[in-house]
Amino acid sequence: MAPHEGRYIQMFSIHGLVRHENMQLGYDADTGGQIKYVVELCKKLSEHPDVRQVDLFTRLIQDKSFSDDYGKELETVNDKCRIVRVQCGGKKYLRKELLWPFLDEFVDKTIKFIRRENAIPDLVHGHYPDAGYVARELARFFDLPFVYTGHSLGRSKKARLLDDGMALEEMNRKLKIDHRIDMEEAILASADLVVTSTRQEIKVQYGQYRNHALPEYRVIPPGIGIHRFYPFYHEIEGDSPEKEQALFTRASLTRELDRFFQHPDKPLILVLCRPDKRKNIQGLIKAFGEDQDLQAMANLAVFAGLRKDISRMPDNERDVLTQMLLLMDKYNLYGKMAIPKTHDFEHEVPELYRIAARKRGVFVNPALTEPFGLTLLESLACGLPVAATNDGGPKDIMDNCQGGILVDPTDAAQIARAVRNIISSPEKWDEFSRNGILNTRKFYTWKSHAGTYIQEIQSLCTGHEKKQAAEKQDQPHIGRRLKNLSYMLITDIDDTLLGGDADALAKLSALLEKYRSVLGFGVATGRRVASAVKILKDNNVPDPDIVISSVGSEISYGTPFSHDKGWQTHISKDWKPDLIKKQLAEIDFLTPQETELQGPFKLSYYMAPGKDRLAEIHHVLTSRRFRYSLIYSQDKYLDILPFRASKGKAVRYLSYKWEIPLKHFLVCGDSGNDEEMLKGETLGLVVGNFCRELAHLKTAKNIYFAKQPHAAGMMEGIGHYQLIEKAKKTHDHKK
Ligand code: GLC
Ligand code: MG
Repeated sequence: MAPHEGRYIQMFSIHGLVRHENMQLGYDADTGGQIKYVVELCKKLSEHPDVRQVDLFTRLIQDKSFSDDYGKELETVNDKCRIVRVQCGGKKYLRKELLWPFLDEFVDKTIKFIRRENAIPDLVHGHYPDAGYVARELARFFDLPFVYTGHSLGRSKKARLLDDGMALEEMNRKLKIDHRIDMEEAILASADLVVTSTRQEIKVQYGQYRNHALPEYRVIPPGIGIHRFYPFYHEIEGDSPEKEQALFTRASLTRELDRFFQHPDKPLILVLCRPDKRKNIQGLIKAFGEDQDLQAMANLAVFAGLRKDISRMPDNERDVLTQMLLLMDKYNLYGKMAIPKTHDFEHEVPELYRIAARKRGVFVNPALTEPFGLTLLESLACGLPVAATNDGGPKDIMDNCQGGILVDPTDAAQIARAVRNIISSPEKWDEFSRNGILNTRKFYTWKSHAGTYIQEIQSLCTGHEKKQAAEKQDQPHIGRRLKNLSYMLITDIDDTLLGGDADALAKLSALLEKYRSVLGFGVATGRRVASAVKILKDNNVPDPDIVISSVGSEISYGTPFSHDKGWQTHISKDWKPDLIKKQLAEIDFLTPQETELQGPFKLSYYMAPGKDRLAEIHHVLTSRRFRYSLIYSQDKYLDILPFRASKGKAVRYLSYKWEIPLKHFLVCGDSGNDEEMLKGETLGLVVGNFCRELAHLKTAKNIYFAKQPHAAGMMEGIGHYQLIEKAKKTHDHKK
């Protein structure tokens, strides 16, 4: 492998409102932590010397209710980082649960972007299952390493909502929860690496998935904004508005706290969390209330979110706050416990940690469950030691930071003991404080996050390159191959490619083999894909790049064959095969073809020619307002397909998706089901042994009627159009 000049990373985060400045975090449930994380990650990665380019792909939104920023196709973040917006499912803003049907459109347009920029990424990384799906499809097309971050998981959400009493039916209607879970399973089955924030996420959350054991996992905790959480002994230098602000906040907070306490100078035990039962504030008050020694040693301050009037708050919060007041009264903690009302959390929080640290206190997180534990990190970064729940994220944080003690949150005596231990030993306090300040900066900054990330993906990419080299790529992966091709030959199989002189077929096969690097090869057939592949093999025809099968209702690529899902989604619109079948059952001149010849998007019958027969079928179907295409060929086959499907439309779709101009497609056929792909801008070629239903094309433009039949006729047409010469020229030119 040639040494690379840095990696090109494509990130995908599709839903919500994404821009790199003035992020509208909290605008709605889809525009929150994930968006902030992804944008920060991209910025940091782009500053790394081992990275050449980072593109963040998201959905394009042109909607009067939103800023024009979200409608720009390209947003430059810096010289190595862009936000690329791709339109799918129209222009209006859509919440994430509504995006599923449009993701294949997103995939197709990203492929076009890749082809236009002529740059295949070294790696794709999807965030949340919508983008995970897109990244996975691209990884398959281009044979790329695929990284996934879930951010939250469907199975956990489903369990939580069931617990809250939401019916499964409603969950599926509003949130498409089961579809999301299916997608997550599929993503886990093909991701190379899953990035998580904690070890518990791997075990407890991903552990619920059938496919959880398939990918590799790596814990890379997110960075925190270290500049706001500077150490308690640090003063902002000089005179600045920030400094004034900090001093003002410190003074007013101190005043506010002091009015609660009899002895304001004692060490301060600090709790800071939303008023949520799972945060277990009452557990801590109990620990404090039942330990006289601790009360003699320290004061307790509880900051439980913003509140105005407790009696008017939502149930859960009101219960927690009422409990808090009752416990304070029960243990008679007046003069020892503060429950201030806060005003400006954003600025007050860092100052609070520092005030508590100056008083040589302790931060306590007594939560019953704690997936990550951001407050812990903030406290440690300011130099305030912690006593924290031994659940989830805090375990990892304490392992790394060594800035305090883990406790069982259900054991009040244990919590009290841990806090006493820290407060009563000045050496221990100093050590925890120093460790916290140093280790948060070592393990939890964006810089260290990006560093670990790069290490991981370097080994992933190198491993992948080795694997590719070992598989000896004289046959590049299909996506890479199609990206580089400028000419395609697409031919019908029965009675066009096959059915004639064996010598001519051998010559044609040799030609295709010889010019493989400049000319793509595909077939378009009425057969199912397996039967098409088999008959080509039996006749020693080279493996095709593309198989358009079932009369254009299926497209598959490469070896091993993979379906084009974009096509399936596209044609499935208004397709009602069961209803059509029912209507046609009554027509006596139609005989259904054998079951193995039917397809999910193809209904086939035998029908002898007869006056007005086709008109009658159309009448039956249109009067019932069905949408369909009907194709009659060789005086015996009748195919009914979705209205968006046919061999011709499949060729057009390929031209669009892979950006190969239609007039660079040579298409060959002999009968009615080939008609659509022969007509129009493509280079048409009809073999000498054609069926009568094609005779009227003789006057059409761009269609050559060969004198010779079958493969010999194809050779003749290839010569007529000088296809090989043109393909070679364009290819050399591109190089
Ligand atoms: C192939 C298929 C058949 C189809 C016919 C015409 O023979 O097997 O199902 O009707 O092509 O498209
Ligand atoms: Mg044919």
